Amino acid sequence: MSNPDELQPPMPNVAQKAPYLVNVVAGKTYWWCSCGLSKKQPFCDGSHKTTAYEPLAYKATETTTVELCGCKQTGTKPFCDGSHESL
Ligand code: FES
Repeated sequence: MSNPDELQPPMPNVAQKAPYLVNVVAGKTYWWCSCGLSKKQPFCDGSHKTTAYEPLAYKATETTTVELCGCKQTGTKPFCDGSHESL
């Protein structure tokens, strides 16, 4: 029997050490990749299924450009908080 702790790395994968600038539309929901394994960054493509991570739903409140976290270490998910600068 496998240990569930072995399925989740201690830290999510660093997709890139910079945020992703994304144009979002008010009222639309986006699924931010929290595991860092998606090939469609910064959004979930289902790759987390091999981990214990789950995507985070983010509903845009306005049509604008946002900085979504690329390093997956942010404390303000799904937005960049500058954590990539210390990696
Ligand atoms: S692929 Fe990373 S959370 Fe789904």
